[in-house]
Amino acid sequence: MTGTSTSSVRVAVRVRPLTEQERQQQMSITFQPNNQISVSGDKSFTFDYVYPPHSDQQEVFNTCVIPLLNKFLEGYNSTILAYGQTGSGKTYSMGIGIEYTTNEGIVPRFVHSLFQQLHHKQSLLDSFSFQVSVSFLELHQEDLVDLLGDKGFNLTIREDTHGNICWAGVKEEVVCDPKELMSFLRKGSIARTTASTDMNHNSSRSHAIFSVVLRQFHQNKKLVSKFHFVDLAGSERLKRTNAVGDRAREGISINSGLLALGNVISALGDESRRVSHIPYRDSKLTRLLQDSLGGNSQTLMLACASPADINVTETLNTLKYANRARNIRNRVAVNQEMGETEKLKQTITRLKEEIRSNDDFLHAVNNEMDALKREVQVLSTTLQQKSIELACVKCERDQYKHQLMADDHGLIPPMMDDDQTLVNDHPLMTEYAQIIESLKIELLQTQEKLKLSQERQHDDDETLVGSPCHSSNQCPPVYVSDKTSSNKKRHRVGRRSNFS
Ligand SMILES: Nc1ncnc2c1ncn2[C@@H]1O[C@H](COP(=O)(O)OP(=O)(O)O)[C@@H](O)[C@H]1O
Ligand SMILES: [Mg+2]
Repeated sequence: MTGTSTSSVRVAVRVRPLTEQERQQQMSITFQPNNQISVSGDKSFTFDYVYPPHSDQQEVFNTCVIPLLNKFLEGYNSTILAYGQTGSGKTYSMGIGIEYTTNEGIVPRFVHSLFQQLHHKQSLLDSFSFQVSVSFLELHQEDLVDLLGDKGFNLTIREDTHGNICWAGVKEEVVCDPKELMSFLRKGSIARTTASTDMNHNSSRSHAIFSVVLRQFHQNKKLVSKFHFVDLAGSERLKRTNAVGDRAREGISINSGLLALGNVISALGDESRRVSHIPYRDSKLTRLLQDSLGGNSQTLMLACASPADINVTETLNTLKYANRARNIRNRVAVNQEMGETEKLKQTITRLKEEIRSNDDFLHAVNNEMDALKREVQVLSTTLQQKSIELACVKCERDQYKHQLMADDHGLIPPMMDDDQTLVNDHPLMTEYAQIIESLKIELLQTQEKLKLSQERQHDDDETLVGSPCHSSNQCPPVYVSDKTSSNKKRHRVGRRSNFS
């Protein structure tokens, strides 16, 4: 990825017109210049975009979606989150419902504009080609459902080695034109779980994520960007829906997902608190949207609200929620896949690293060889000393033997020591004999050890000559040098020498 920059989450507020049933109601919202909005005449908020009830779908698309579409074409990921209470106009604005075929919302307009621009780009650039694919997910009570895929397929949310969030097992349909793309949007919308509550007859009780993936190929370069359109389920508090049983359970699950989303938004936006932990893992919704919030995505939150007095509390909650999102700053970068030059550069770096680690390995082997040579030298000296000692002891023994033989033949009176015991039986003689035996054993051991060291050294020399290039992931051989035992022996030898 190249060209990283920061971008705050942009927030748009759209207030729908009063419905037929609300005609008698008072408007709880007033609009002021410079994108300011106030609720019940006191609480004031400023947003990036404010759309009063008379704003139409075209205006919304032109002002807050086209900038994201342009960035998407440049290779940036983008996300639009539609937030608000049930019946506030989320699905209408996004245009991902089945009934909005005339006054199209954001997605259909986006799709037509996207293909138009891609064809225009193709006419300008010689070797330019592209591929568009779509996926449609639903999150219903913490269950992920692939609206375009087979039922029962296991969907998981994973994080790749670069920290990007991947939705494993989600079906991606490649599309050739806007018509085909819209057919998948319709297919998924029909499959979407809907159920009725007191708030809205066809209220969507789930979060829906419609994603468009764009792959662009030009001169050995590949740009991959994703656009997520997220139609969140109603944000109203449970008691307002008069829901019971399954509907109440749904409500709790929706609220906990949105609560987790709110906590993530707070943690990301509140710089003064310096929060290091962002609770993405608290719900599947926040985990799914991890990349869009605080990650690598241009993000727009479209907060939808009802102007009716009866909804004033929910409207105020929506505006407070949206206001928190304005503080979030995302790190965004173009998703460019590596070209040939980049790949070669990476190979060179990897090979350099391998050579460096091979040098380290050779260095370690040389050190080990030096240590072994020193050990061999010490052992040779010890061997020499032992040989001399042995020769001396042998000489002494021969003298004694000679003397004893002379005694046997009566030539020399038998050797008696001071306390009149025969020299043959003398304790000194017995000790000498023992020393000779142990020295013989020690000499044999030392000779064997020397032989072993020489063999090992010979093996090392052969390893270095035979295979000079070890891959970096091979461990250097471990040489077990018996320094402790040889030291002990040297100490013992010293003692014996003094004795003789
Ligand atoms: N800006 C708008 N202009 C006209 N009608 C709207 C607008 N926003 C919403 N509506 C109407 O309000 C009703 C509820 O909208 P919907 O998008 O289904 O709400 P939500 O998805 O938030 O539950 C729909 O009948 C829709 O046509
Ligand atoms: Mg809806």
